[in-house]
Amino acid sequence: MKLFKLPKTLKMGSATSAVQIEGNIKNSNWLRWSEFHYIFDGSTCKETADHYNRVQEDIELLKTLGHECYRMSIEWSRIEPEEGKFDSEAFRHYREEVEALVNNGIQPMITLHHFSDPIWFEDIGSWQYSKNQKYFIRFAEKMIHLLGDLVTYWVTFNEPNVYFQGTCIDGTFPPGEVGIQNYFKGSLTMIECHAKLYELIHDYYEDHLDKKPMVGVAHHLAYFTLDKKPHWWETIAIKFLDRYFHEFYLEAMTRGHLVMPFWIKGLKKGSYADFIGLNYYARHLVKATPHLETFYTSIDALKGGFYNDLGWEIYPEGLYYFGKKLFETYKLPILITENGTPDAKDEFRSQYIIDHLYQISRLLDEGIPVTHYFHWSLLDNFEWADGLTPRFGLVEVDYATKERHIRPSAYLYRDIIKNRKIENYEYDAVQ
Ligand code: BGC
Repeated sequence: MKLFKLPKTLKMGSATSAVQIEGNIKNSNWLRWSEFHYIFDGSTCKETADHYNRVQEDIELLKTLGHECYRMSIEWSRIEPEEGKFDSEAFRHYREEVEALVNNGIQPMITLHHFSDPIWFEDIGSWQYSKNQKYFIRFAEKMIHLLGDLVTYWVTFNEPNVYFQGTCIDGTFPPGEVGIQNYFKGSLTMIECHAKLYELIHDYYEDHLDKKPMVGVAHHLAYFTLDKKPHWWETIAIKFLDRYFHEFYLEAMTRGHLVMPFWIKGLKKGSYADFIGLNYYARHLVKATPHLETFYTSIDALKGGFYNDLGWEIYPEGLYYFGKKLFETYKLPILITENGTPDAKDEFRSQYIIDHLYQISRLLDEGIPVTHYFHWSLLDNFEWADGLTPRFGLVEVDYATKERHIRPSAYLYRDIIKNRKIENYEYDAVQ
């Protein structure tokens, strides 16, 4: 392979989320959680990259780097720091940020929920109670009124599977109330809430705006694989994982179909997504034991692979595999809502970007409508339970001074966005 090209119709940019970069979010459950020392490296999300005070500077970066689209989240706990009390300054701030993106020709994509909940919401049981949905819907409605004229693309929820895995299975996300029942109870609330928001956003656009919205979920898909000679229970485990971690959310949040034996009052089969958001990072080896409590270990080394700073195996073909599978299943446009790697020394990020874009070019060549690629992430950020140590940014952040330094891979990505082609490309398929 000597050359691959990417069409102009593929919009390319980057993604972030509020808690991970903004700093000084006083009323998020993640600040409380991180200050209780539940983060592996002992850091907190108190300051992070201080993006909230540096929006202009960061938009300049997006421009310098030629980004055409930008995915960001609105922090609910800023908008509604106490139940029923709304902060007009936060409304103004987000309105101005999104306006600035649009005025600079950068298409915004807005995420309404990216792992963080207001403390007051957590304290009333958050997603564990179906009746609590009304609070999130009230917030979301306000954001749609605030930003609808500027925004077409909405992500209602980021990675429900990772959110509930963290909060209810691993206990690495707040409030850490572990339990399989909590996992499904919370998930069902979120699923129902997504379906309502899908309809609400469409109704609002139909009644008030002269355009159609594109609404969906950013789904995390992990490429699970088995050892060469798996135990029989591992072949069952991988199917089970795929079903409860992937299909359960995809089916319910795309077409109102519950693949697990559940029933949600009011959730009708139907169409609840205008696109499939695909967040893809790595391949994970499923090692199971016949004991339920040690069911699987996800990042055991698959011999001979290539691993990023967090020990995740880099496996670009996984992006092609999921893009194809999701399109064949749902016949909806595919948006790569996240893809990236922690690489503090910026040694392999460039190759990572090229290899994953190559997989997108394969999908496009087969006529699969991949419309956006959001690299994760614009800036170094707070990587949830892993803290500030992993460096996912195209742009390095010095956390002491908050200075930004553009990494070489960001320039490479800029050139690809501009030129749409990679020459002399050699790709060794990973086995
Ligand atoms: C999340 C991001 C996170 C990234 C890297 C995704 O699971 O949406 O918030 O930083 O992956 O782990």
